[in-house]
Amino acid sequence: MAEHTSARPCKTPAESVVEMTELVLPNDTNQLGNLLGGRLMHWVDIAAALSAQRHSHHIAVTASVDELSFLGPVKLGQVVRLKASVNRAFHTSMEVGVRADVEDMRTGELHHVSSAYLTFVALDNNRKHVMVPEITPITEDDKRRFVAAGHRRESRLRRRQELIDMEKRRRSGDNQ
Ligand SMILES: CC(C)(COP(=O)(O)OP(=O)(O)OC[C@H]1O[C@@H](n2cnc3c(N)ncnc32)[C@H](O)[C@@H]1OP(=O)(O)O)[C@@H](O)C(=O)NCCC(=O)NCCS
Repeated sequence: MAEHTSARPCKTPAESVVEMTELVLPNDTNQLGNLLGGRLMHWVDIAAALSAQRHSHHIAVTASVDELSFLGPVKLGQVVRLKASVNRAFHTSMEVGVRADVEDMRTGELHHVSSAYLTFVALDNNRKHVMVPEITPITEDDKRRFVAAGHRRESRLRRRQELIDMEKRRRSGDNQ
């Protein structure tokens, strides 16, 4: 368990922004020539991890990924832009929001294809959880995401507890 001390440094979401641009190559696609969901999930995870590390200045591991929807197919040869930033920091964990858009290189237009929320836990050199700087929301969007992240944390920790309880019941059943 990390020590919970007061007077943590504060940072803004803008300081944690990570942007990645990926070209969809043949090896990224399925038999229909569409981007594999798993490849997009990989890019989302990398962008989010780098954002969490930019915020915390520590190695950060993925604790959970909330629902990830694919709003439309992404085709071979298209360009995907990912933008990640920390919505809120708790004690040792952070919620990172990632948005993925297809960029039309001829017009510069962006088409939203996916969004996700991921939670990362910061670790020190001994792989122990470490406290992370707080988030100070600045813009209206920052403030909206900050509040929503608090609600999402409650439901994901409830879900985590349900999984722990389910596993305990399964193990005690196995032992009878
Ligand atoms: C994520 C991990 C570090 C959490 O450690 P833990 O000892 O189980 O968790 P704790 O109860 O001490 O909680 C540590 C923090 O993680 C948060 N957390 C833990 N599980 C979580 C989950 N499923 N979703 C969201 N937050 C979670 C807790 O709320 C807590 O946050 P806080 O300090 O900001 O309040 C640990 O489970 C782990 O190492 N998992 C594997 C990570 C990994 O390998 N990821 C790659 C994906 S395969």
